Amino acid sequence: MIVVGGSSSRDLAKELAQKLGCKYVQAASTRFPDGECYTRIEDGELDDDVIIVQNTYPDENIVEMFLLQDAVDRLGAKSISLVIPYYGYSRQDRIFKPGEPESAKVMAKRLELLCDRVLTIDIHKEDVLRWFNCPAKDVKAARAIADYFQDRDIDLVLAPDIGAAGRAKEVADYMGVPYDHLEKVRLSGTDVRIAPAHVDCQGKNVLIVDDIIATGGTILAATEQLKLQGAKGVSVACTHGVFTKNALERLTGSNIDALLTCNTLENEVSNISVAKIVADALQSGW
Ligand code: R5P
Repeated sequence: MIVVGGSSSRDLAKELAQKLGCKYVQAASTRFPDGECYTRIEDGELDDDVIIVQNTYPDENIVEMFLLQDAVDRLGAKSISLVIPYYGYSRQDRIFKPGEPESAKVMAKRLELLCDRVLTIDIHKEDVLRWFNCPAKDVKAARAIADYFQDRDIDLVLAPDIGAAGRAKEVADYMGVPYDHLEKVRLSGTDVRIAPAHVDCQGKNVLIVDDIIATGGTILAATEQLKLQGAKGVSVACTHGVFTKNALERLTGSNIDALLTCNTLENEVSNISVAKIVADALQSGW
């Protein structure tokens, strides 16, 4: 096996290669003066099973992925596996208004042209994987999140909305603590209203678990509500720290006690590594 790291995911790709005990090859990716992507794998032949680790977010990383797939194929890869830590467009998984494209499906249909299997991590809607015409699997980050918070005195795990309830339950089950979910109403792209929690939060250390933080509106509203209800501490863990605009600054400057994300998107709080769970999934031979 050989792991090829695209420019979006080099640290994760390197760590994954270490866990798999295999060779790591870094793609040298730069931009032409006009902004187009140039990539080259300088390592001669890749006559092995090759794993490309690269996000399909933001848009320029999609193009880099396509180019890497072609380069790897030309260097003689026996098989090509795509590890897509953060699958861009997964939230546009259906037609919301007539005339829209089915964006998540569009991505799958282009990516599958040159690959033998696909692995994603906490993809927003797992249903998207049915569009791949090759084996496709989603790995859950719950175990990595639970391991990180295991000895950090958490009393209760909460999802900010019903959509994240399954993730919160999985984390809570690993940690052996109760879980519940909050009720969220989205008011706009940036603002949400969170109803009071049904469970008693008074004096408790609560961990909020979500898949994505984008504007941070969801997490800020949930934290405010939990503090109002007397929570002693509010920690936040999400898989993908998208952090649009100044979201990360707003969150770190708020009354959240700890903010962590997985390293599917690299940022200053992405200290929870998914390398082991990805390595385990790849080695399980699905
Ligand atoms: C929603 O379905 C997702 O699970 C997240 O809760 C959402 O994407 C978070 O977005 P924001 O940070 O903009 O509130």
